Amino acid sequence: MTKPKIAQKSPAPVQVVAGKTYYWCSCGESKSQPFCDGSHKGSGFSPVPYTGEKDGIVYFCACKQSSNGVLCDGSHKALS
Ligand code: FES
Repeated sequence: MTKPKIAQKSPAPVQVVAGKTYYWCSCGESKSQPFCDGSHKGSGFSPVPYTGEKDGIVYFCACKQSSNGVLCDGSHKALS
């Protein structure tokens, strides 16, 4: 597996807590999008940690094409 799977073509809004660490799924195979559920095992992908900066909604990337790390940058709009 060299490219991540497109889990969905829209961001995944999540209410995060300041100081809490989340593990974003980079492979796209997790059933618990946008977070890792261990499905990446053997794929060469690894979860990416993200620590909440403040309490509030964060739009995580779910298409796995973002150039803004774990966060949505609108790249999903270019996917057919
Ligand atoms: S399930 Fe995708 S990185 Fe863990």
